Amino acid sequence: MSVTVRVPAKVNVQLGVGGLRADGFHDLANVFFAVALGDEVTAEAAEGVSLSCTGPDAASVPLDDSNLAARAARLLAAHHGIEPGVHLHIAKSIPVAGGMAGGSADGAAALVACDALWGLDTPLETLLELAAELGSDVPFALVGGVALGRGRGELLERLPVTGTFHWVFAVADGGLSTPAVFRECDRLREEAGTGSSEADVPTPDADPALLAALAAGDPVALAAALTNDLQAAALSLRPALADTLRAGIEAGAAGALVSGSGPTCAFLAKDADAAAEIAKSLEESGTCRAAQATYGPVPGAQVR
Ligand code: C5P
Repeated sequence: MSVTVRVPAKVNVQLGVGGLRADGFHDLANVFFAVALGDEVTAEAAEGVSLSCTGPDAASVPLDDSNLAARAARLLAAHHGIEPGVHLHIAKSIPVAGGMAGGSADGAAALVACDALWGLDTPLETLLELAAELGSDVPFALVGGVALGRGRGELLERLPVTGTFHWVFAVADGGLSTPAVFRECDRLREEAGTGSSEADVPTPDADPALLAALAAGDPVALAAALTNDLQAAALSLRPALADTLRAGIEAGAAGALVSGSGPTCAFLAKDADAAAEIAKSLEESGTCRAAQATYGPVPGAQVR
């Protein structure tokens, strides 16, 4: 018997980053948006916990216990007091270390897949708690759609959204480390003299104009409201991303930003035709490894 779960990648349409907390995390106002570009995780009964992976970035996916999918299987089994027995196969389309929460998505998918394979019927509330233990972005991959994440991103509130938005993602060569990008954000704040601690940086809040654009299904208004407080840090570590962002805007994108901690760049298009055009232009621009048109919002991790 096997169970396959489809799970979306995310882009942050707003990523407001507060000061550095004593626990090493930052308080966020994080508006997550789930897109159709996703991974599939298949769970099959086996001895112990093992992993395999296919896809363009498969060589850079760890197949040991550091992988969030393996950690999710062990955490779920431990919660129920059972021995974990599963082989997890990850069919990977989400760029690795790309700022689209691909590892977190696989963790969320593994929770759902193992829950079904082992017949556990774990309540969603419990799965969300286990997901938050695995990482800040894992709960959102369970929920999908569009949601505001507070705290370190794990305290979720679903947001109303109308219709479908069309996106293009430009994948870079090589990833960026999320902790390194947060550290660079703190360093830039210190350098600018504003300070980087919780006392120095006001707690971020969701932008009302952005929430209104989502609720109205207005891509031009959403494009104007896109913000990412980690973008300056990602550009500081990877200056060439400025060329990618410019190429997408020149190709007709209504808005552009670095996705999460990067280096993937996200472009909002007016409609599906514009998205296809922008993806083609970006591929031809030589400023990224690949570009893909997609859409959202889509649901969170679901058995196929
Ligand atoms: O929660 P997760 O393991 O995904 O976080 C990875 C790293 O990203 C953290 O160790 C921390 O350095 C940084 N981070 C942060 N503030 C957040 C989320 C992540 O500083 N809200």
